Amino acid sequence: MSIEKVGVIGGGLMGSGITEVSARAGLDTVVVEVTEEAAKAAEGRVRASLERAASRGKITEADLDETLGRIEFTTDLAALADRDLVVEAASENEDVKLELFKKVGSILTKDTAILTSNTSSIPIVKLGAVSGRATNVMGVHFFNPAPVMQLVELIPSLTTSPETMASMQSFVTDTLGKQPIEATDRAGFVVNSLLVPYLLSAIRMYEAGYASAADIDRGMVLGCGHPMGPLALSDLIGLDTIRAIGISMYEEFKEPLYSPPPLLDRMVDAGLLGKKSGHGFYAY
Ligand code: CAA
Ligand code: NAD
Repeated sequence: MSIEKVGVIGGGLMGSGITEVSARAGLDTVVVEVTEEAAKAAEGRVRASLERAASRGKITEADLDETLGRIEFTTDLAALADRDLVVEAASENEDVKLELFKKVGSILTKDTAILTSNTSSIPIVKLGAVSGRATNVMGVHFFNPAPVMQLVELIPSLTTSPETMASMQSFVTDTLGKQPIEATDRAGFVVNSLLVPYLLSAIRMYEAGYASAADIDRGMVLGCGHPMGPLALSDLIGLDTIRAIGISMYEEFKEPLYSPPPLLDRMVDAGLLGKKSGHGFYAY
């Protein structure tokens, strides 16, 4: 099945990046947000990222205008009706995602339409079950920043059809030019199962006073060659998102290393969400 019309639900950090990737691949892309203000903010993020790409000579000014021209920002889920593919990238909250899959499953008009989630940790099979089109539902997990990171995890659930998986393999590889790996439908998939306990351990280390945030990060950048340290990376991902992922992974495996430390809870309660709120382990 050819995918020409894409929908993205949620235009936050990931949704705006996925929108950019889709529109830069030449696809007609609709982004649905909760409020006009959030839709404007999503548009601002996509525009800023494209302007940065233009200023670095990666795209021309004409590419920038054409790319933006392929994107519609709206608050109306009904605008997804004619989409071939929808990528849900709303906040990491199971209730929110279940409600969206229930609604969007009945809004999509094409029998062949594929409904995917960019969730980091919520069971894909549950999203499929409420959608009324479980064979056409799977996880398609992009990495942050989506325009830069090459990896996409593909997660078929117990009910995903082989045709849906094959379509997404070819879409991610041939249309988007990214590199997929396949993972089973277990909270955290491959990368977050390794990454999240590491990030939570760094937060515990900072909480216990082992070292300053800057020195923990310098340790991993200079000692292990990571592009950024764990606390800066936590700020980039969003502390609310890391906390939600840790909770889902802990619920699934009861592994204490996945359980969010108290400092992370308190920072989220305080609205210190990292780079997106202007303050986390560092000020931005
Ligand atoms: N959007 C678009 N492009 C961006 C960008 C963004 N938000 N941030 C950086 N870039 C681009 C820059 O334009 C630049 O492109 P060119 O080199 O082609 O000009 C390139 O990325 C490098 O950027 P910078 O020079 O500004 O900065 P850097 O070299 O320090 O790289 C980084 C920034 C790419 C974020 C790098 O630090 C990095 O790879 N960090 C680790 C990111 C990571 O681990 N991501 C995974 C998070 S986990 C996840 O996503 C899963 C989950 O479920 C939580
Ligand atoms: P974010 O907080 O930056 O953005 C979430 C957006 O979803 C917000 O703009 C919010 O207004 C919108 N939203 C919430 N409810 C909605 C609804 N009912 N309809 C439409 N929009 C709605 O979060 P994010 O970092 O972009 O994460 C989005 C998803 O991507 C999550 O499932 C997260 O686990 C996953 N993810 C995040 C990262 C990361 O590094 N942040 C990486 C990979 C995957």
